[in-house]
Amino acid sequence: MELRHLRYFVAVAEERNFTRAAERLHIAQPPLSRQMQQLEEMLGVTLIEKGTRPLRLTETGEFFLAHARPLLDQVRDLKTMTQRVGKLERTLSVGFVASTLYGLLPDIIRRYRERHPEVEVTLNEMTTVEQLKALKEGRIDVGFGRLKSEDPNIRRILLREERMVVAMFPNHRLAGSEAGLRLTDLVKEPMLIYPKSPRPSFADQVLAVFSDANLAPAHVTEVRELQIAMGLVAAGQGIAIVPESVQGMHHRNVLYRKLEDKHAFSPIFFSVRYRDRAPELENMLAAVYSIYDDLGILHVKESLA
Ligand code: BEZ
Repeated sequence: MELRHLRYFVAVAEERNFTRAAERLHIAQPPLSRQMQQLEEMLGVTLIEKGTRPLRLTETGEFFLAHARPLLDQVRDLKTMTQRVGKLERTLSVGFVASTLYGLLPDIIRRYRERHPEVEVTLNEMTTVEQLKALKEGRIDVGFGRLKSEDPNIRRILLREERMVVAMFPNHRLAGSEAGLRLTDLVKEPMLIYPKSPRPSFADQVLAVFSDANLAPAHVTEVRELQIAMGLVAAGQGIAIVPESVQGMHHRNVLYRKLEDKHAFSPIFFSVRYRDRAPELENMLAAVYSIYDDLGILHVKESLA
């Protein structure tokens, strides 16, 4: 069986019609029908029910489709990932979640540029979920995100766990709690969480921090992104739980209070394509660790090797 058989079969199954599938594949219909017959003969099973319109798959055909699609996706990812790895020499495309921009990301990028002026670095703000897709499609080479993913095509390194803090309007009734707040103080407050999509996202990390403490915030509003959440906090529309890096975003109508709960942390991950050991990636990791060393931030050094 060849990849061509899988591609043809998926097109037929998706179009539910041989003529449309042939058009989509830019081939004539008779060779497409022959290829499908050949595939059924090779497997010794019936994949497509005979004489139905629109065309229907047999149960075996549905099974084959469910496995053929991810295989074709993997082949496509392999192609783009390999092309990207081969091209990596002088460019490095970095994906990052917005909160890191207010924390250490600018220092890390500057350190990297100082050490490797020959490399052209591009920065792209995107959620962790978007980063994973962009890595596989070869649009970025490294992602700085916050969510765990179990994607077998991605190598993820935990850089550190960052404390969460509470952002609020300066006249908020909890603003006087300089010693810090607890989740139980916050459950009844209108709460802004972000990003609304794609999920899972930092919004789910915040909700999980509550549910891990057997709590549920009473009034939750989901908003598109961090900047919108912070604008609404400044307008007195609610509070937001954010990583402490966000304190680097100074706004005269927002203040931050510590969150005392022991488990209120958000991880920062370094994600790359599995087995991508381009020196630029190792150098980027070294730039992160060197900033951590300068600032005395506790961490465990890992290597891509
Ligand atoms: C950090 O805050 O630890 C961090 C931010 C951006 C990239 C890598 C690490």
